[in-house]
Amino acid sequence: MLPTFVTQPRGDERGRAIVVDWGGTNGRALVIELGGGDAGTVAERRFAFTDAERTGSAERVFDVIADAVGHIVADVPGPLPLGFVYSFPARIERIDRAIALPLTKGWRVSGLEGADVVALLRAALGRRGLDRVSVAAVANDTVTALVLGTYRRRGRDAGSRSVDVGLILGTGTNQAADLAGEGIRNLESGNFDGVDGVASPWDAALDRELSDPAPGAQRFEKMAAGHYLGEILRRAVVDVARGEHSLAGSLAEPWSLDGEHVSTIAADESSDLAHVGAVLGAASALETRAIVRDLARAVGRRSARLVAAALVGVLTTIDPDLVQPHHVAVDGSLYAGYPRFAELMRAAIIDLCGPERAARIDVTYVKDATSAGAAVIAAVASAPRS
Ligand code: BGC
Repeated sequence: MLPTFVTQPRGDERGRAIVVDWGGTNGRALVIELGGGDAGTVAERRFAFTDAERTGSAERVFDVIADAVGHIVADVPGPLPLGFVYSFPARIERIDRAIALPLTKGWRVSGLEGADVVALLRAALGRRGLDRVSVAAVANDTVTALVLGTYRRRGRDAGSRSVDVGLILGTGTNQAADLAGEGIRNLESGNFDGVDGVASPWDAALDRELSDPAPGAQRFEKMAAGHYLGEILRRAVVDVARGEHSLAGSLAEPWSLDGEHVSTIAADESSDLAHVGAVLGAASALETRAIVRDLARAVGRRSARLVAAALVGVLTTIDPDLVQPHHVAVDGSLYAGYPRFAELMRAAIIDLCGPERAARIDVTYVKDATSAGAAVIAAVASAPRS
């Protein structure tokens, strides 16, 4: 329940902001133009980190980021506020001060934990001579999704209810919620550890054997998020396929399946399951392909049901009988990429609360929420107080 120092937007925020979006291997620097509930991308520069950089120094990471910022602001004049989406756990002490907690999603950067990530970004911008770019705000991706959801709703109708929950379901998973009396909080729900009762032997083994995040950390995320689904599937397949040499062989390498493979396998409706075959190898038998597809669908469906349960848990904390309408803004590669993920989640929400209450829970996909939402947060943070 980490404080965020972010408040809900009015919907009429305007202006231009730089956004840095970093929370995994691929990141982006963007110039975003805001206007009345809408956010357009003026310029964008992607960056990616190598395996060595993922376990290297914080300075190197921030130099890569500052370099991308340098490229996109080259043609944009004037002083510019920057919103920093930092999608790892952090203890936020001010809107522009975030102390890094242990990293997730397989990252381990030296010199980061315990340091202020805004100060590290400012120093890197300084090294690149970008003093006219001022870091105005830092926020988690779940918070930017929540804020963008509200910005869009209020841009259309200023009297709209705000979004209650921002949900990310991609490489990692997490929720932010607007809690009465507490404001918007980053729940770091991927770290929820009450999962033993529903964990399979494959989940338990994965948790035990992984060193980043450490055993016991991110237990919920390790069962539900894109970074892990491929490995859960691989472990299950290798066990089930004992005896079928070709199959166990093609998947012997840990982490050789990723979240995208799970989506591709689950979506395969072709008569010879060619897409499954492309992952398993041409020698795989049709019957085996069908079993692997069933397993992939079970892993994906379970993720949707876990995430639905976590969401209903948060919403019933806000409103125990779900008497009010609630809005949820969701973004992330697994939500967008896994076949019919939204439908699977909706079915689970209905199972958990019944159709009447479930109808009061609106889950809206906010594509690219992280960058646009951060621009809104930066605009609010850098606006002169009226
Ligand atoms: C991080 C969260 C983040 C989530 C989604 C998790 O691993 O701990 O801070 O919101 O991934 O990107």
